Amino acid sequence: MIVNGVLKFPSNFHFGSATSSFQVEGSSGNRYTDWDKFFAEKNEIVKPSEIGPQWWVKGKAEKDIEQMAGLGLRMQRISFEWARIEPTRGEIDEEAIQRYKEIIKKIIDCGMIPIVTINHFTLPIWIAKQGSWANDKTVGDFAHFAKFIVARFPEVNEWITINEPNILVATAYLSHYFPPRSNSIFKAIAAGKNMWEAHRRAYIKIKRIAPLSKVGVCFAFRWNRAFNHKDIFERFYAHIVNEFSEMSYVRGAPDKMDFIGCNFYTGYFLDLNISKLKVRRIKGIHSVPDTLLFGETKTPRAYLSDYGWPIVPGFFLDLLRKLHKATKKPIYITENGIADADDSHRAYYLITHLVALWRAIHEEIPVENYMHWSTVDNIEWTEGYSKSFGLLALNPITGERKLRKSALLYKEIASKGEIDIERLVHEFLPKGQQDVALKNIQNLLLGKVRLITPEGQELYS
Ligand code: BGC
Repeated sequence: MIVNGVLKFPSNFHFGSATSSFQVEGSSGNRYTDWDKFFAEKNEIVKPSEIGPQWWVKGKAEKDIEQMAGLGLRMQRISFEWARIEPTRGEIDEEAIQRYKEIIKKIIDCGMIPIVTINHFTLPIWIAKQGSWANDKTVGDFAHFAKFIVARFPEVNEWITINEPNILVATAYLSHYFPPRSNSIFKAIAAGKNMWEAHRRAYIKIKRIAPLSKVGVCFAFRWNRAFNHKDIFERFYAHIVNEFSEMSYVRGAPDKMDFIGCNFYTGYFLDLNISKLKVRRIKGIHSVPDTLLFGETKTPRAYLSDYGWPIVPGFFLDLLRKLHKATKKPIYITENGIADADDSHRAYYLITHLVALWRAIHEEIPVENYMHWSTVDNIEWTEGYSKSFGLLALNPITGERKLRKSALLYKEIASKGEIDIERLVHEFLPKGQQDVALKNIQNLLLGKVRLITPEGQELYS
């Protein structure tokens, strides 16, 4: 609904923030994952002096959660560390369970809904030793663990089984960036298949003990659009790439999902360029996942994050439309955010993406929740603490936090459940970005997937 230029979200829509265990907890306590081993071998990624947010230390997670509640957020996404709970096969660490109980309790006491990811990238060493997701045995182990966890946490009703199986296949099995660094097409196929099966089996087991709980998987989508929009072949090509690379996973088991989790950060143009046609292997986990593509990926002329990822809210709207068409499931935005240490573009990012989201809801696309990535600056995997996504800025050495100014824009939106466009743009965005933001917003409100460049040029209609 729009009332006097103010966009209203449905009253049952939840705004929240998200983290994952390995990225915020620190290594104190009984934790030994494949990523700890990887970091120990590559000790330059996180330095011993960098203590990070230390959520495993009593009081640290709790304070950050209070800050999120203070922003008017009503949902908090966290994950459980399998290696802490089951450090060796069949042996349960009750202290770890208790610590997670405390964190969940804090979330609930603050009036927020906890949503828990059962596996967010990291695996216990005993699972890594048997070949991680490439071994079929891991399927049964995971389903068993999921069932155990859900039985022990009846206070949690929202579960994500596995975070981004599609990214893991590309970064950990098809290439050598993330552990186990398999770099093998065969292992990638096995891991992809096993993660789906693990989700499916976990879903069935969870539903038996907690039939009313909601269980989903989340995927990362790096959305593509045609570079030459007027070229029908190129549009078709972008469509095919999205269907086969971005959406193929989603179609795997739609009947075993109560919702689909969507992690969206950025998008690119695809230029088919027939004259230079060749198959290329694109490198770099974060710029573009390792993929085989014809033609070239081009970076849209848009504002960029500290990663160099273009800010393209229209692509987000386009993705939500396609996701809805393909799955017909309720959609949770389980991650959306920007690496932006000096907070110069987060307000722009937030308001434009939330307008895109509002438009999707206006088109009756069932988006139910939005979780901003991330609660606090955390370990950005192989990038260590060099990329800052947090609503709370963190000094990784002292552990000190400070609320970023853009978090106050988020508070204005989340606590009121509305976007007062003109006021917020003028109050929170740097002068130089205001016109570009308003023009992009205008297009989004009309449902048009266009991109207004920082110079004010309209890229396609
Ligand atoms: C992952 C997060 C990560 C974020 C930003 C997502 O792919 O789930 O763990 O920090 O992207 O790169």
